[in-house]
Amino acid sequence: MNKFLIIPKEIVTSDSADNVYRKSAVEIVDQTITSIIALKDFDVRKYDGTVLEFPDFTLVPGFIQTHIHLCQTMFRGLADDLQLLDWLKKRIFPYENAHNKNSLKSSARLGLHELQISGTTTILDMGTVNHQEIIFDELINSGIRAIAGKCMMDINDLYSAFKESTEVSLATAYELAKEFHLKDDKIKYGFAPRFVLSCSEKLLRETSEMMRDFPGSMYHTHSSENQDEVAEVRRRTGKENIEYFESINILSDKTVLAHCVHLNNREISSLKSSNTRVAHCPSSNLKLGSGIANIPRYLREGISVSLGADGAPCNNNLSVFNEMRLAALIHKPIHGASVMDAKTVFRLATIEGAKALNLDKEIGSIEPGKKADIVLLNLNKADKCILDTDENIYSDIVYSSDKNSVREVWINGKHLVENGVSKKYDENSLIAEAKYELNQLLKRTEN
Ligand code: GUN
Ligand code: FE
Repeated sequence: MNKFLIIPKEIVTSDSADNVYRKSAVEIVDQTITSIIALKDFDVRKYDGTVLEFPDFTLVPGFIQTHIHLCQTMFRGLADDLQLLDWLKKRIFPYENAHNKNSLKSSARLGLHELQISGTTTILDMGTVNHQEIIFDELINSGIRAIAGKCMMDINDLYSAFKESTEVSLATAYELAKEFHLKDDKIKYGFAPRFVLSCSEKLLRETSEMMRDFPGSMYHTHSSENQDEVAEVRRRTGKENIEYFESINILSDKTVLAHCVHLNNREISSLKSSNTRVAHCPSSNLKLGSGIANIPRYLREGISVSLGADGAPCNNNLSVFNEMRLAALIHKPIHGASVMDAKTVFRLATIEGAKALNLDKEIGSIEPGKKADIVLLNLNKADKCILDTDENIYSDIVYSSDKNSVREVWINGKHLVENGVSKKYDENSLIAEAKYELNQLLKRTEN
């Protein structure tokens, strides 16, 4: 049995009352948070487990990102300053298509290392078309919590080499779900038809029907990201993107739609009535020039919103801190400075992410019974707020922290980042491996 106490400066719970505790400890037994102990009448010296004291650090729930492409991590910086359809056509589709098992492994490891040392403990990953089992192996090996699945594409007018038949795509997804859904208690399957422009109606529909065989699985796709994309969806289907999804029955509380930038009123109503989840990706939406989603309105309407960095080549960073800061900032010029306050945004990156993935009974807050996905931040620095009120903690995290604030990370009770450094990966080896693999991959794209 692995039994330990973490005694931080303060505990920011993200529970339903937004409790913040001081002079308290979090007790962990194996994978689970068993209690939050007030230290006033508790003799720590008599505790029969390990005691870890971090008097300068703030304990928060592990961060959750609901839209990630691990397979793209090694393409960072290779597709800058392009709008979505050119970005896919000229760079991302050819590169993803050129992945072999080794390059995919290297790309996934780079991304997992970056996510973990910056405090992300759960992801929804879109995967890629070929060799998805490699991504699963790396997810499991990394110790992260994830919902992931192969990216499905049976149409590709932008780069025709990168697709597969409807039957092969469906059959491969089904086999992967059989093998990896719940393979480990941190891994679930997320069916991932890429977006309307790369999927036949049969693929979109039958994928959703498959989910019945895999309780707890999710449906993960892109929607309404870019104006040219939306126009092409309209031309093909005669409908707006979300209206089309509604007409083929794939909106539900098990569906996560990345972006949702360009929606009309009816589409917003459909998201709300179907309880569909929106993954807000502010860095990606700015960098690809896609636009600004009406997140304050979605939140007002009670639509589930969570955050994602998307892929490294449209960001160019996987840190949740960038997404929190931008989610708090970019809506203010449009809706006024009081929208997207720091506490709201912190919740999007923690408990709201858990709710989006239907994992809120397990993760997303620091409460007894939840899994021990825990991050310690050093907010005790000269570039942080001088006062120690609850509101200042959220302000520090959202407006003035970055990945360097992350000091310790546990996932499922396992200590994976210590003093800001991964206990799992050697950064220099990851870089050397990725350099070799990327050069090989680029040679393959020239042929
Ligand atoms: N739409 C379809 N594929 C992608 C992708 O890889 N990234 C983003 N941002 N949008 C997409
Ligand atoms: Fe994406």
